[in-house]
Amino acid sequence: MPSAVPQSVVARLTRSAIFLVVTVNAGTANEAAVRSLCADLAALVRAVGFRALEGQLSCVMAFGSHAWDRLFGSPRPKELHPFREIHGRHHAIGTPGDVLFHIRAARMDLCFELATQIMSRLGGAVAATDEVHGFNYFDDRDLIGFVDGTENPVDQAAVNATIIAAEDADFAGGSYVIVQKYLHDLARWNELPVAEQEGIIGRTKLSDIELDDAVKPTSAHNALTTIIEDGEQLEIVRDNMSFGDVGKGEFGTYFIGYARSPRRIEQMLENMFVGRPPGNYDRLLDFSRAVTGTLFFVPSATFLEDVAAGQAPASAVAPTAPEPAPEVKSNLRASPADGSLGIGSLKRTEHE
Ligand code: HEM
Repeated sequence: MPSAVPQSVVARLTRSAIFLVVTVNAGTANEAAVRSLCADLAALVRAVGFRALEGQLSCVMAFGSHAWDRLFGSPRPKELHPFREIHGRHHAIGTPGDVLFHIRAARMDLCFELATQIMSRLGGAVAATDEVHGFNYFDDRDLIGFVDGTENPVDQAAVNATIIAAEDADFAGGSYVIVQKYLHDLARWNELPVAEQEGIIGRTKLSDIELDDAVKPTSAHNALTTIIEDGEQLEIVRDNMSFGDVGKGEFGTYFIGYARSPRRIEQMLENMFVGRPPGNYDRLLDFSRAVTGTLFFVPSATFLEDVAAGQAPASAVAPTAPEPAPEVKSNLRASPADGSLGIGSLKRTEHE
């Protein structure tokens, strides 16, 4: 049995991204339309990405808890559940979302074209609940002016942090992802002296150097999001993007975090919103408000390829350790599970 090939969760950070969250409209025909896209998504990414190979187009497709039951039924990923709201010093709100498309590329035109193709395939089967066009701000900064992403694990460490292995053998090669859209009160943030901002983030602003533990507050963002369990740091892979609408005074960071278990992201959120210990919360939240929050499961690319439109798929593939996620290249595709060359593209698999 071949091992499951992950989707392009572990991709190099890109300059542009579209975060598209949709809900699936009621009715079996609509569910079948979404299932039919699953098997064809890789071909769509190839078709759009091949026109500009240097653009490194990729797309991750992920499913919310309720949508999983409607689309695929049983078995279900062990740790898939709706986003758990947190009521601490600040509120981590949960918002609806059945399917997430995380589209990344070096250029926004590629992201835009793929999003357009996806939505024209889905037609009236879905309704968009949130769409954010994210950009990289100068040297990988977010709009609060700090470099964002520095401490992300890379290469094999990123795979180890994000890709499910034997702990849920039916869904090996999968991953979990949490998204949250934050809006900043930039005027108030920019009034803060830079030294105070640095204490809140835990790094220097211009040079992006981590503050020494002797001076770093225990409430610093990078302190509260560092979780050590049994001597091991529980890491996640983030690919935050800036977005905004200048005319409306809207300035935001779209947080996206992947992990092989949602628990570690939830623990980080708990530390940020409630505090560690409670009350010692993340002061970034005094300036940044979460306006969305959704948890999704990312099945392996192999699982997606095997989805048949008309019926829930049989159980996922072999319980073997995942291979490193493929480098994201639009002309590379996941190995097909059927052992074929996988050339057949854009095929429809409805059996209804
Ligand atoms: C307004 C939203 C957010 C902003 C602007 C933000 C910004 C930053 C910045 C500037 C850094 C330091 C540079 C780096 O290592 O990337 C950082 C680190 C980090 N953030 Fe965030 N972040 C946000 C939300 C979150 C959330 C919601 C989580 C997790 C639930 C999170 C998890 C982390 C982690 C794990 C690190 C690395 C800590 C380390 O190992 O040093 N962030 N973030």
